[in-house]
Amino acid sequence: MAYIIPQSLILIFALFSLFTSPSHSADPDPLQDFCIADLKAPISVNGFPCKPSSNVTSDDFFFDGLIKEGDTNNLFKSSVTQGNVLAFPGLNTLGISMNRVDLAPGGLNPPHTHPRATESGIVVRGKLLVGLITTANVFYSKILTAGEMFVVPRGLMHFQLNVGEEKALIFTAFNSHLPGAVVASLNLFGSKPSVPDDVLTKAFQVDKSVVDLIKSKFGG
Ligand code: GLV
Ligand code: MN
Repeated sequence: MAYIIPQSLILIFALFSLFTSPSHSADPDPLQDFCIADLKAPISVNGFPCKPSSNVTSDDFFFDGLIKEGDTNNLFKSSVTQGNVLAFPGLNTLGISMNRVDLAPGGLNPPHTHPRATESGIVVRGKLLVGLITTANVFYSKILTAGEMFVVPRGLMHFQLNVGEEKALIFTAFNSHLPGAVVASLNLFGSKPSVPDDVLTKAFQVDKSVVDLIKSKFGG
């Protein structure tokens, strides 16, 4: 006897496999051992073309760019040094990357999101208020010290504030070779060309003078 599968069941199954497939939770899985990015080649549909394996050397698998303390002499008194595919081409197609975050006392890694990755982090030095806000506008936070970890689900707004007396240091890890970062204040008030004042005064329910003042801080 032949079984007839209703079309709606097939559709539900197809949608379910689409959203549960690993390629939709982070970067797609690699199809080869490695693909050291050729950063000079024009960007292809997804990621960078591989450099020929005959040109690959040991150096392609190592990166010392996170050794150095970042310069925190800036508006936010913080610095994010990125260890993504653009800095470390060996990460190309592997779906992972890391950052180093340095914060002077009182320094803030300002509210931002990563559109392409979930983030986890470990505090190596200092005392930090680590916070995130959900899509339902619920704020979660905790004060962390050395050895403690945090996680920020993909796309959620988050920050780290140094609430200690000393410098703070965090290493963060991502499930994308290029997580991207949208810093809320810079994105809205420092874009080029700038977002019209009318949009910002309405969005934040403030006068143009307030918008102009914030724009002046972020070069918008
Ligand atoms: C910290 O939030 C980072 O993006 O490295
Ligand atoms: Mn982050």
